[in-house]
Amino acid sequence: MFLTPLLVSLAVLALVAHALYQALSSPLNRIPGPLYSRFTSLVLKWHEFRAHRTRYVHQLHLRYGPAVRIAPSEVAFASAGAVREIYCSGGSGFDKTEFYDLFRVYGRRTMFTTLDKDQHARRKRIIADRYANSNIVRPKPLAGIAERAAKFAQRCTESVGGCLDIYVCLHAYAFDCVTHHLFHPHGTDSLLQGGKDEAIMREVTFDDSLQNRLFKHHYPTAHRFLHKLLYPFAKPRETPLADHFVLDSCDADDSAPFTLLDRLREPAHGLDPLDIAAECLDHMAAGIDTTGDALCFLMWELSQPRSMRYQRELQRELRRARRAAGPGSPAPAADGTPYLEAVVLEGLRCFPAIPMSLPRYVPPGGRTIDGYRLPAGTIVSCQPYSAHRIDTDVFPNPDAFNPERWLDPQGDADRKRLFFAFANGGRGCVGKHLALAEMKLLLQAVYSMFTTLPEATMTEADMEMSDQLISSRPAGQRCLLRFVPLHESELLDQE
Ligand code: HEM
Repeated sequence: MFLTPLLVSLAVLALVAHALYQALSSPLNRIPGPLYSRFTSLVLKWHEFRAHRTRYVHQLHLRYGPAVRIAPSEVAFASAGAVREIYCSGGSGFDKTEFYDLFRVYGRRTMFTTLDKDQHARRKRIIADRYANSNIVRPKPLAGIAERAAKFAQRCTESVGGCLDIYVCLHAYAFDCVTHHLFHPHGTDSLLQGGKDEAIMREVTFDDSLQNRLFKHHYPTAHRFLHKLLYPFAKPRETPLADHFVLDSCDADDSAPFTLLDRLREPAHGLDPLDIAAECLDHMAAGIDTTGDALCFLMWELSQPRSMRYQRELQRELRRARRAAGPGSPAPAADGTPYLEAVVLEGLRCFPAIPMSLPRYVPPGGRTIDGYRLPAGTIVSCQPYSAHRIDTDVFPNPDAFNPERWLDPQGDADRKRLFFAFANGGRGCVGKHLALAEMKLLLQAVYSMFTTLPEATMTEADMEMSDQLISSRPAGQRCLLRFVPLHESELLDQE
């Protein structure tokens, strides 16, 4: 009888000895990092569950350098060389990990969630053309964005004397822009019409499924059995309005030639209706929070007293560009405005909408990164937040928002090498040119007409970064700004 406890104790001892042996003999032990990272990933998970992963990993980089072991088989890097190796070697870098399974839609794999490189390349060949800059700057797609930027400016005008929640309005703007690019003429108008369109945007934007989805990722078996018990504390992602909207929009057979839907429906690609809808829903979700949050953090920063001189300089450039374009002409083209370009780059450097680690597996045979030999199967990643801050020769005073650093021709190549907001290589952001056009046209519409100031009830805590699965949003999920028409604020300036 007493043999059973003895056997259990021996089994436990054997397990502990095995874990210790593995931890002490791991080839990753040469990589700097906290001692506990050799034995457990629990500390990392704790920070993930508390929506703090990005800052936790960054603190480790500040303490241990550009290569840091963050879990027994996971290493984070922050150098340009690591970015090149992990995300660009062989064209599209190392394979994605199963983390991306969390983003599957309608049970299908999309371009974003495909783990296999060849499958990804096949899907990308179909899609890339719709997001090429040459397609974005064609008159119809661009006019669609400019029209939505004008609607945003109308909301600003209506708010004069009070304030506007730009967190909500910028997500509405990003939603309307991306659905225009996906489905025109069946895009949304959540900015001015509200109603059902606004309800869809809110459903996606205010999603609160981080803990549930992390639990599913880290403990899939337990999640299968416990998901009903979890529900009251940690809700799963549920977006029925968005799901139906996309399925309905994909039924329409009159989509404009510049849209993604038009491209995906070409019979030569052999995609079934659910594949098409899944791809569109994925891009819709990818286009709302990213552009919405990036613009929100950026406009908040521009509205701070410490950044007022940058806001003034931006206004001056945009007013000059508008005058040069002539009275009554539409918004001037987004190029030819270097200060605006610098403001956007610096916004994305300081507040990359996806600031977190983009995990990949070291391929068979292992690889050497930053001088460290890593066995196949190790999870490696870079996070934009740290790549943009760790090298203080390239980005001096890295936590300060200073668009003018991008105007200095010296060091330009190094800055661009470390700029990782849209990732890099074959799996970098396909929506980059769309996002940049949306950001520039919106800033142009706002800052050629208004000065923005923070509303008195806003706090720094409202604007703290709160990590989601991969993106990060302001913790308070509100951002109240006051819009002062430019002529008035200029008069104030002269007082
Ligand atoms: C400021 C705005 C944006 C930022 C900062 C951003 C950033 C990123 C990043 C970092 C990735 C790589 C993610 C990874 O490897 O895990 C990515 C991928 C992607 N983004 Fe964006 N994005 C933005 C806007 C958009 C927009 C507007 C769209 C589409 C309408 C879009 C669609 C996608 C898609 C489909 C992928 C997957 C690409 C692939 O796997 O080949 N993004 N984005």
